[in-house]
Amino acid sequence: MIPTLTWTEEGVRFIDQTRLPLEESYVLASTYDQVAEIIVTMVVRGAPAIGVSAAYGIALGAKHTKAKTTGEFAPEFEKICARLASTRPTAVNLFWAIDRMKALFAKLLSSGTPLVQVQEKILAEAHAMYEEDIAACKTMGAFGGALLPEEGGVLTHCNAGALATCGYGTALGVIRAAVEQGKRIHVYADETRPFLQGARLTAWELMADGIPTTVLCDNMAASLMRAGKIKAAVVGADRIAANGDVANKIGTYNVAILAKEHGIPFYVAAPWSTIDLATPTGEAIPIEERPQVEVTHHAGRQLTPNGVGICNPAFDVTPAKYVTAIITERGVLRAPYADSLREMELVAS
Ligand code: MRU
Repeated sequence: MIPTLTWTEEGVRFIDQTRLPLEESYVLASTYDQVAEIIVTMVVRGAPAIGVSAAYGIALGAKHTKAKTTGEFAPEFEKICARLASTRPTAVNLFWAIDRMKALFAKLLSSGTPLVQVQEKILAEAHAMYEEDIAACKTMGAFGGALLPEEGGVLTHCNAGALATCGYGTALGVIRAAVEQGKRIHVYADETRPFLQGARLTAWELMADGIPTTVLCDNMAASLMRAGKIKAAVVGADRIAANGDVANKIGTYNVAILAKEHGIPFYVAAPWSTIDLATPTGEAIPIEERPQVEVTHHAGRQLTPNGVGICNPAFDVTPAKYVTAIITERGVLRAPYADSLREMELVAS
C-alpha cells in the first residue's frame, strides 16, 4: 500500500506529492506547524488525507507541549486547531477531524484527565481515524465496484486514490475493487490542470497496480465520450452539501455535464466525513483560491505573459442533478439526495 502518511516516533512522514511521479521522496513533519505547511503546499492533499494529517498534527502539538497540566494546555490546543483549520477551506474532512479532536479534548478536560493520558488519547484518536479511513475506502470500493461496467473505459478526474486517503482511495478504490472483482476496466485519467493530480498522481498509482490507464488533457473527455470510449465516470469529493451538491476538483463540473449529455453514469465516491449536512447547498461551500503561480508557471517555467489576469479556483460545485449516485461506506445513495442523505444519517446515529 502507498504510504501517503505514516506516524513515526520522530513525527509524521509524508510522501512528497509535489515531486511525484519523477521522484519518490519523503518529508518529515515534527511539529504541528510543519504539518500545516505541508497541507498548504500540497505535499499532502486530498480531502480524507488532509483530515487525518490534521489529526496527527494535533497529536504532535500535544506531544511537544511545554504545559504541565491539561488545563494549562487548553489554550494551546485551541491555537493548534486554529492553525490547522486555516490551511485549506474546502475539504470538510479537515474540519470534521478537528471537531472530532475538540470533542475528545473537551471530554478529557472536563473529566480532569492528566495531560500524559490526554496526549495518548489524542494520538489514539488520530490512529483510529487513519484505520477508519482505509476501512471506509475498502467498503466504498465493494459498493461502488459493483456499479461499474464489466468492461470498458472509466473516466476519473484529479486524484481520489490511495494518495488522497490513508490508503486504497475513494474513486480509485471503486476502480480497484471493480478490477479485483474481475472487471476489465481501462481508466481515463484527466490530467487535471493546473496541479496535474491526474497526470502525475492517478497515473502513477494506477500504473503501480498494473491497471491500464490513459492520461487525457482536460479538454479531451467530450470527444472520447462521443466516440463511445467512456462507459462511466467516477470522482471523489471535498464536500457534499445536504442537497447532494458536490464540491470537487475544478473541472469536475465539466465532466458531470458531459456525462449527462452522453448518457454516461456519473458517480461520486466519498466517506461520510465528506458529507456536510450543516451546509444546505453547494452555494454555501467555500471555494479555495490557490496562488496564481500554479497557473502562470509549470515546473518553474513561466507560461503566460507578465501581468495577464489569472484565476485559480481549486474546486467547483457539481449540482446534485448531475450525480447518478453517491457511494459511501454506509451504502449507495440516490436522488433525491436531501432525503437519502438525511435518512442515512438518521439510520447511522
Ligand atoms: O486540491 P486537492 O488535490 O486536495 O483536491 C483533491 C480532490 O479534489 C479530490 O478529488 C478530493 O479531495 C477527494 S480525495 C479522495
